[in-house]
Parts: sequence; structure tokens; C-alpha cells
Amino acid sequence: MAEYVDRYDIGSQESSARRLSDFEIVKRIVMDYVMRHKGLFSINLVLIFFKMLTVLARPYLYKTVLDFYIARTPTDDAVWLAGIIRSLAVSLAKSSEPQLRGLLLSSALLYVAIAAVEWAVTTAQLYYIEKLGLFVIADIRADFFSHINNLSQRFFEYGNTGRLVSRVTNDAEALKKILSTGVIGLVGDLIMTFSIVLMMAFIDSQLTLVALLIAPLLAVTSRVFQGWIKEAWRTARRNVASLTGKVQDLMYGAKLTKSLVQEERSLIEFDETNELNMQTQIRAETVSVAYSSVATVLGSIMTAAIWYLGGMKVLGATRTIGQLVAFSNYSESFFTPIQNLAMLYGEIQSGLAGAERIFVILDEEPEVQESENPIHVDEMRGEIEFKEVNFSYLLDQPVLKDINLRIKPGEKIAIFGPTGSGKSTIINLLGRFYDPVEGQVIVDDHDLRDLSFSSLRRAVSIVLQEPYLFNGTVEYNLKFGNPDVPDEEMTRVAKYVGIHDAITELEDGYLTLLHERGTNLSYGQRQLVCLARAIIADPRILVFDEATSSVDPYTEAMIQDTLRKEMMNRTVILVTHRVSTVRDMDRIILLENGVIADEGTHDQLIKRSSLYRELCEMQLVEVNT
Ligand SMILES: Nc1ncnc2c1ncn2[C@@H]1O[C@H](COP(=O)(O)OP(=O)(O)OP(=O)(O)O)[C@@H](O)[C@H]1O
Ligand SMILES: [Mg+2]
Repeated sequence: MAEYVDRYDIGSQESSARRLSDFEIVKRIVMDYVMRHKGLFSINLVLIFFKMLTVLARPYLYKTVLDFYIARTPTDDAVWLAGIIRSLAVSLAKSSEPQLRGLLLSSALLYVAIAAVEWAVTTAQLYYIEKLGLFVIADIRADFFSHINNLSQRFFEYGNTGRLVSRVTNDAEALKKILSTGVIGLVGDLIMTFSIVLMMAFIDSQLTLVALLIAPLLAVTSRVFQGWIKEAWRTARRNVASLTGKVQDLMYGAKLTKSLVQEERSLIEFDETNELNMQTQIRAETVSVAYSSVATVLGSIMTAAIWYLGGMKVLGATRTIGQLVAFSNYSESFFTPIQNLAMLYGEIQSGLAGAERIFVILDEEPEVQESENPIHVDEMRGEIEFKEVNFSYLLDQPVLKDINLRIKPGEKIAIFGPTGSGKSTIINLLGRFYDPVEGQVIVDDHDLRDLSFSSLRRAVSIVLQEPYLFNGTVEYNLKFGNPDVPDEEMTRVAKYVGIHDAITELEDGYLTLLHERGTNLSYGQRQLVCLARAIIADPRILVFDEATSSVDPYTEAMIQDTLRKEMMNRTVILVTHRVSTVRDMDRIILLENGVIADEGTHDQLIKRSSLYRELCEMQLVEVNT
């Protein structure tokens, strides 16, 4: 198993170190996904710019009002703003020489107007960022889903479904967050910091240097905390995934747990996982909060230094009081984006980790791939050939050995043999869920590897032992492989396989919604629905892998009979353990340990194969030798 674990066990991938750097992940999100919505992205950039203007405007207004009308130490640079305030006051008071009261009132009105614009811009920004995030997430989910559909069967055997579910839900959600708070927020915060520093330098370059001295301190503390936060969030996220897995086990395995009287144990196990999950979350939150508090303390040190040094300058009359207030205001808002980044760091990190886990799966190359120039065949005859096929799931553990098999169009054959002899494996190769290690599987003179997926899927319909029904109506399920089929044909087939009466007895007949995993139908009935679904899909080759194992022998015999009529010109392969089912087939392939031990009709095999006789005797069939 070892050689596949690395590749397919996504659990083990999660515990290993990061594969993509933060930069690579962000670049990929932006280039592959955000850029699909250029319009929305540009709206967001424009809004960031306006937001920046409003944030810069308010301290500047303080400064002007303080210097011009309160302390009366006007500065040259703000003459234009004083002019605006003045003309506002003029038009309000309708006199050419407004009073001080009028000037203060119009300043206040201007202040409110700026705040209103800021409110509008912030709201619009939130709306558009959210919208962009949701679009991107929908795209990623769609990519993820179609990719999962293409991945090899093997992937699911090693991949833990709980983890996959967690990726489309939690990880995608975390990724949305880094889009809004991260990518867009980061760009906004960087632009903001930069423009605020410019304004500060414009007021007083010396004080700006003092403020900037705090930056390296902040950087050092960030680095220390970053490592802790990163690790804490990764562990937390891993635990959420395993909690999801446990919940699924509890739900889907509920019956099994009860029947084995293991409720208590599974509850204890769940409690442990839950507890662990809680603790790691708390730890992650605590570390993130501890960091943001450190940032607050550093901010206070900076403010104190500015007021002390700046206060001296005001006393020495080299700076005005308005400049000091504005500077102090700017320095606070310069710290906000940096603090933002610090607080969001945990979120951004967990988002990046989520994005990485999604990308790791998106990068997974499907093992079975469609050929570059696939052959499309519309009408198949239904001839099948296995040519010297060898196959193993794991290296050096052959499951099928030297299989040579020819099935004529319209022939009805059975594959019969003990458990583990390789029957389902043959079906897996025919459905191209795997490719043979050696040899060829050929349908109508085409190697399956050359055939287009759509031609193959249309030609071959496989009914599996485990009857899977989709969430939807009975009709939706029956017409799944052939949605355009008329209702008459659907009911005709349902009657043929003997499920029509059971369906009409349901609440809404064919329009009854099937519950999750189809619990309003019995297991055998579900098998019949799957059987009908395969027949309605109208394939040339029909394969049943123990598809009727749970229906009673009477129903099975009836199905056999109708199948023979219905399947006149189709090739049928039946995998079964039941001798009664095998007897009437044109040919029986007897499989033992991955080798074709014998083949022939029931009568021929009874005469010459001791294995066949044994299998028959076990099922108390009269053996006439
Ligand atoms: N995904 C897999 N990975 C590794 N080994 C596998 C896998 N699936 C099947 N095998 C092995 O391949 C062999 C053949 O399995 P297969 O499912 O084809 O048997 P089968 O004849 O269909 O048995 P049954 O009658 O129980 O359905 C078995 O020994 C099994 O252990
Ligand atoms: Mg099987």
C-alpha cells in the first residue's frame, strides 16, 4: 500500500510541510480566479482609492479648523481648504463676511459630509468585495467538483471522504475570507499605510522617523508570533477536518455502531476529537489575540512619544497645534492597517493553508486520462476483448493474470468465481476506472485508452452492487443516464424489472423525493431502481456486478427472464455468486485467483470443472454428472 499512500492519502499530505509558498498561492488565486472578474476587481480598486481619500481627509480638516479658526496659526498648505470652508459659510450665512460660528458650523458640516462619503464607500466596498469573493469561491468549487469527477477511482479509496467534504466547505470558506480581508484588504491596507506615511512626512519628517522606528519592533514581534499562529491554525484546521470525518462516521455508520453495541465507544471517541478540536481552536485564537494586543501596546508607545516630542515643538512654536493633532491622528490610522494585518494574519494563514489544500487536489493528475485525440464512436456493436491482460492494484501483487477473453456482440456471459477472485476487477477495467498494467481491453476494435470517455460511458452501463441513488425524485434517478427518455419508456422498463408497483405505491409515485441514501425504498428495491436506470440509459453493453444480490430469488428469476427479452441485441455481463442466475447464460467464465480457470456452459462446466461443481454443491443445486 505504501507506494500510493504518499500520493493518495490526503491526510498524510496535510501533516507534511507546505508545498506552495504564500506568494505562489496568492498569485494563483489572483491570476486564475480573481482575474476572471476584472470588472468587479477594478470596482474594488477604485473604491479602495476613494476610501483612502476619505481617511486622509479627516485629520487634515481638524488641522485646518484648529489652525485657522481656533489657535489662529494658519499654515500655507491648507489655504485651499480654508477657502472651501469659507465659501460654504458664505453661502450658508448669505453674507460676504461670515462669522467664526458660521465657519465652525460649515467645518462641522464638511466633516459630516466626509464621514457620509466614507460610510457609502465602505458599504459599497464590503458589498463588492463579498461579491468578488463569492464569485471566486463558486469558480473554485466548480473546478474542484469537476476535477474530483475526473480523478481516478484509486484516489477515493485512499482519500477520506470527510476530508474532501471539508475542502469544499471549510477550506473554500476560509479561502473566501483571504480574498476579502486578505488579498483586497492587504492591497488596501498597504496603499493606506503608504499614503498616510506620506502625509505624516509632509507635516513633520522628524516625527515621522520616530513613528517609523516602531515598525522594526513590530516586525520582529510579528516574526516571532507568525510561526506560532501559523502552526496553531494549521493544527486547528486539521482537527476540524477529522471532526467532520467523525460526524460522518457517526451518521452513516449509525446502524452498524448500534448493531455492534459500540455507541458508547464511538461517543467517547467523538468527545475526544471534539475536545481536542476545541482546545486547538482556543489555542489558535489566544495566540492571534495575544499578538494583536502586543501591537496595541506598541501603538501606545508611539503615540506617547509623538505627543511628547510634538508637544515640545508646539511649545517652541516650530509646529502648530493643528499639525500635532493631525499628525497624531494620522499616526493612529497608520497603525490601524498594520494592526489589521496582524489581527488578520491568523485568518489569512488559515485561508492560505485551505487554499493550498484545495490546490494540491486540483493539481492531482487523474491516473486514467482521456487520450489526446480520442476516437468518437456513435453506434457500438458491443464486442469486447481482453487481450493478455495483467493487472495489479498494488505493485507486485497481481490480481488478474493473463486474461484472454472474447465476448461477441449480443452474447450473455456470466463471470463466476469465489470471493476475491477478481470479478469486480475485470469490470473495473471494462469501465476504465483503471487501465491494465499489461495487455489491452478492446471494445469494437478500439483499445479503451483510445476511445473518448463519452463514447465509452454511452456504450457501457455498469450496475454496481452498492445501489447508489442521488438526492432527487425517482424519475430523476431513473432518467439520470438519459434525461430525454419519454415517460412511457421509463415506466415500461420499471415494469420489466418489477419496480413499477412499488414506485406507484410511494406517496407521489414517480415524483417522490428519495431521501438521502434512498431509505424510503428497501435495499433490493433500490437495486432494482439502479438496474432500471442502467437499462433506460440504453447502452450496448450492460454489466451487472452482483446487482441483484439483495432481491428474492423469485424476483431475480423474473428479472432474468425479462432481461433476456429486453436485452436481445445487447451484450450482457453478469457477475454473480448465485448458480441459479448463471445457469441460463450463454457462457460462464470461471475465475479463480485472477486466472480464467475454465469457461463454457453450465452443463459443460458441471462435467469437467471440480471448482464449478464445488461452488454449485455449496448452493445445493442438483448436480447431474
Ligand atoms: N482497491 C484495491 N486495492 C488493492 N487491492 C484490491 C483493491 N480492490 C480489490 N483488491 C484485491 O483484488 C483482489 C480481487 O478483488 P475483486 O474485488 O476483483 O474480487 P471479486 O471477485 O469481485 O470479489 P467479491 O466476490 O467479493 O466481490 C482481491 O484480492 C482484493 O483484495
Ligand atoms: Mg466484487
